Amino acid sequence: MARSSAVRILVLHGPNLNLLGTREPSVYGRTTLRELDRRIQRHAVARGAEAVCRQSNHEGQLIDWIQGAAHDGFGAVVINPGALTHYSMALRDAVTAIALPVVEVHLSNIHAREEFRRHSVIAPAAKGQISGFGPASYLLGVDAALEAAAGRAPRRAR
Ligand code: DQA
Repeated sequence: MARSSAVRILVLHGPNLNLLGTREPSVYGRTTLRELDRRIQRHAVARGAEAVCRQSNHEGQLIDWIQGAAHDGFGAVVINPGALTHYSMALRDAVTAIALPVVEVHLSNIHAREEFRRHSVIAPAAKGQISGFGPASYLLGVDAALEAAAGRAPRRAR
């Protein structure tokens, strides 16, 4: 079967995001992960692309997916690293190690929350960060990832 030429975006959700819908709804809303993934996939298709969504509570699994993204045919990665955002140097190293653009997204505005959430160790390795727009953060993230995959975003300054 001929492979589709649509750009494929890998969308990763980190720890505890499987609980979306019931986890602190006042912060993260009532949209479940399943509903969110459907929205992301529809959004990608409307832009002539394809989104594949995966969630894991395990740092190593997320790293394996990031490392394998190019081999698996993805043109860019969108990731909400959850709390790993704030301390996982291993995840940051994985983002740095790959040639694909990586867009960091957050449902909540991490810069308006507790002190420990205001710092992302991932951000310097990512193409950019989108934070605070609820589920729309992911949709904006897909748009940014498509721009970057098409070479329209500025190269990261490193
Ligand atoms: C989050 C923010 C993180 O601080 C938190 O640990 C999460 C979700 C967000 O999407 O707002 O798990 O990444």
